[in-house]
Amino acid sequence: MMTIRCAFALAMATMLVASSTSFATESVAPEIAAEAKILYDARCALCHGVTGKGDGVAAAGLSPQPRDLTSAEWQLSVTDEYVETIIKFGGSAVGKSAVMPPNPDIQAKDDVAKALRALVRSFGGH
Ligand code: HEC
Repeated sequence: MMTIRCAFALAMATMLVASSTSFATESVAPEIAAEAKILYDARCALCHGVTGKGDGVAAAGLSPQPRDLTSAEWQLSVTDEYVETIIKFGGSAVGKSAVMPPNPDIQAKDDVAKALRALVRSFGGH
């Protein structure tokens, strides 16, 4: 009887923890995470900066400017799906500026898109 109660309490606690976080917690395979980091540094950092602060070498000349992706307020205001969509299909796909380019080679690679999204989330400390 004790064991069943404990198991129930544990399940409830797990559900509470799971529902209190708004970010996906599935793990990304290390090699895909590494691929995403290489992609980010080669492609995205130019505008967004290596740490996502919006201070890439090309950022100054852009209009609109890429925002600070480390902002907790911004992180909470967007869904994982939004982040993955803008990465795959560019700003125009989500009603944002087309200055944010699409990445056609990532469109069929959900795992890479998810890993890039996880990287973007990590800028906000998640
Ligand atoms: C040519 C510069 C450029 C490159 C390269 C670029 N971005 Fe962007 N990105 C932007 C700009 C500018 C915006 C803001 C668009 C707006 O506010 O309308 C943006 C927006 C975003 C947003 C949404 C932020 C928001 O305001 O909601 C995310 C997430 C993002 N980019 C991630 C990435 C990732 C990941 C890559 C690489 C795969 C990348 N970007 C490549 C310029 C760039």
